[in-house]
Amino acid sequence: MLIKQKDYINFALIGCGRISEKHVNAIKQTPKTKLIAVCDVQEEKAKALASTLQCEAYSDYKEMLKKDDIDIIDICTPNGMHASIAIDVANAGKHVLLEKPMALTVEDCDRMMKACKDNDVHLFVVKQNRFNPPITKLREAIERGRFGKLVLGNVTVRWARPQDYYDLDEWHGSRDMDGGMLFTQASHHVDMLQWMMGPVHSVKANVATLTHNIETEDTAVVVIKFKNGALGVVEATTCTFPKNMEGSITILGEKGTAKIGGMAMNKIDHWEFSDFRNEDENTKECTTNPPNVYGYGHNEVIRHVVDSLLHNGPMVGGVGGEEGRKSVKLIEAIYESADTGKEVFLD
Ligand SMILES: NC(=O)c1ccc[n+]([C@@H]2O[C@H](COP(=O)([O-])OP(=O)(O)OC[C@H]3O[C@@H](n4cnc5c(N)ncnc54)[C@H](O)[C@@H]3O)[C@@H](O)[C@H]2O)c1
Repeated sequence: MLIKQKDYINFALIGCGRISEKHVNAIKQTPKTKLIAVCDVQEEKAKALASTLQCEAYSDYKEMLKKDDIDIIDICTPNGMHASIAIDVANAGKHVLLEKPMALTVEDCDRMMKACKDNDVHLFVVKQNRFNPPITKLREAIERGRFGKLVLGNVTVRWARPQDYYDLDEWHGSRDMDGGMLFTQASHHVDMLQWMMGPVHSVKANVATLTHNIETEDTAVVVIKFKNGALGVVEATTCTFPKNMEGSITILGEKGTAKIGGMAMNKIDHWEFSDFRNEDENTKECTTNPPNVYGYGHNEVIRHVVDSLLHNGPMVGGVGGEEGRKSVKLIEAIYESADTGKEVFLD
């Protein structure tokens, strides 16, 4: 669906917390956009942000949905609210942009996609790491078949979140609103592994809560079989002492080996292929050094969303519902395997 007869997109935002700054800056820096309203249940947060942006402030998003001139609503609320808010937004006839994870269950993903389809609106999910320059390069190498037969894919998330982080509010570490470390921290990496290696056949997992007082896991180890026969490993924790150490993806194939490391998959640590090409010379130029694990990708996500709405441009990083659903399905299977102690098959 295209927004016709418009040369700009009116955004509104729900949830004026930590990640909202990335969204606000990205919207401000993207041509042909306006941020015309913001909402937070903590009214003072909405008012403070609205006054810097000179836009309207709301404390009830259902009131904000009555505004006719909003084209798309950017949802930055806790994970467990994504589904119900997105469905309300779609039913109000507005396009939906959601922070990751899309939802905490596949059933919710399906309800969201149905609501968007029924109302003829788009659903975009933020996966900003797909825009990291080293990741773009890795994806190109996969698409060109440079690895030959894929052998092993690994993602490692060795991040540190002190108990204070979980104690700051009620939702972090809770079963119903956070979902778990795999949803809140590692979902970028789980998404990346299946994006690079292809559809998953089965998973076998162990999860544990080791150093935090929270309802969900803080550590997980997963063994994956991909449909193409390759194997994979997810190793993820928020218990790393004393600070973030690594957020990486490593792909091993018959004819190539690559590791994208750094704190959030933004640095080429290893790059070697049997068919050496000129583009293999400049791997250092590809490396970015963002000040935090959120990276620089939100700007690209918003740019692609706007391009997609105005010109039907291709969606790469602010992916659609089908892509967002894949990592939710995989994480749901991981939890089922950890609960039952059995290998879980995805189809
Ligand atoms: N892409 C990334 O790298 C990245 C990084 C951090 C967080 N996130 C995601 O962004 C979302 C928000 O995370 P955060 O760290 O900003 O959380 P946060 O707790 O700092 O902010 C959430 C805000 O939503 C508000 N809120 C809650 N319920 C609401 C409602 N019904 N209506 C309006 N406002 C409501 C809260 O008052 C709060 O201000 C989460 O889904 C999280 O997983 C993504």
